[in-house]
Amino acid sequence: MKKRRILLAVTGSIAAYKAVFLLRLLRKAHCDVKILMTQAAKDFVNPLTFSVLSEKPVDSDISSDAEWNNHVESGLWADALIVAPCTANTMAKMASGIADNIVLATYLSARCPVFISPAMDVDMYHHPSTQKNIETLIGFGVHVIPVEYGELASGLVGEGRMAEPEHIRDFVFSALDQNVNNDLGDKRVMITAGPTYEAIDPVRYIGNRSSGKMGIALAKECAQRGAQVDLILGPTHLSCESNGVRVHRVESASEMFQEAKAFFAESDVAIMAAAVADYRPKSAAEQKIKKSVDDELKLELTETNDIAASLGGVKKSNQLLVGFALETNNEMAYAAKKLKKKNFDFIVLNSLQDKGAGFAHDTNKITILRADGTHKAYELKLKTAVATDIVDEIVDRLNK
Ligand code: CTP
Repeated sequence: MKKRRILLAVTGSIAAYKAVFLLRLLRKAHCDVKILMTQAAKDFVNPLTFSVLSEKPVDSDISSDAEWNNHVESGLWADALIVAPCTANTMAKMASGIADNIVLATYLSARCPVFISPAMDVDMYHHPSTQKNIETLIGFGVHVIPVEYGELASGLVGEGRMAEPEHIRDFVFSALDQNVNNDLGDKRVMITAGPTYEAIDPVRYIGNRSSGKMGIALAKECAQRGAQVDLILGPTHLSCESNGVRVHRVESASEMFQEAKAFFAESDVAIMAAAVADYRPKSAAEQKIKKSVDDELKLELTETNDIAASLGGVKKSNQLLVGFALETNNEMAYAAKKLKKKNFDFIVLNSLQDKGAGFAHDTNKITILRADGTHKAYELKLKTAVATDIVDEIVDRLNK
């Protein structure tokens, strides 16, 4: 079995001494461990202890003596990042995206699963702001290792003790073992999702009802199966916080086109789940258009770039291009036409005639049409389960 690469980040708590035992346990389990420390952590344990036991230098500064410690590289190297102990302060900064030390900068750039083992006094732990930060981090996909009950450094007794090193090890290993489905492990996936807005003037636009839910579910599914995902997301109130997904926000079809072209070149798979506007106003007015005396306003529209078709035109034989078709009638025929015209490897059809399918719903009912003329119809399912079916089809095609 491949040696697991673990980044163990230690922050400033008295429980930092327990991180030494955790390091020993991880080394005994044949993990390759690299230590990160905040400045405050160094007040509790000397970095030399960690350096000797990990057989690696300890990083505690983003830069030192004109050298730059590459937190991005560390974040990409690791199979897991464990922040133990994780103080209330570090948790708050992680929840709000502050990157003022090596641990936080590495966390923000890590694509691997992230685990935190909180350690603090009972009242700090129960404070609403701490509880809110824990919820936020869980929402980001961070695994929070439950605190334990017992005597605290303050002399108080209650919840807030960092989990015992054996418990942290078991928690992390069992979560990593569950994530064995790594069938997109070395792949880069680009996904377009959501609507586009085409400006009429500074306040008005032409848009559509797409929520981006299906594309976001696909991004999460691909990332969970090990892919590095670039999600090009049109204007939606939804967000996609997930390890392994980089979100690139765009507004118009033309912005989406620029981003898609840039990422497609490096992608193994591209999934075109966005509902791209087919037309945009020929020119957007610089000032707000005022109501005139006429009872008509004529907008001149011009075609946008067909992103999928132009990627289909430059697709290489080792790249897989997946399209979507949302139809209201004559569904199979229209979808088959798009599959061919845009050079997709397969197209995912959903019909607005099916109850529970299409925009805004949490469910979808799809049929996959393949370039070889075969197709497969699926039941109505949650969009998360539909994403699994689509990614299964992608993996099948990649393995052929
Ligand atoms: N698509 C795209 N760029 C566009 C329009 C569509 O990338 N400007 C992609 C969509 O993301 C989808 C596929 O092409 O994967 C089909 O989109 P759809 O809007 O159904 O196709 P159109 O060619 O625009 O056909 P229609 O006349 O039905 O709107």
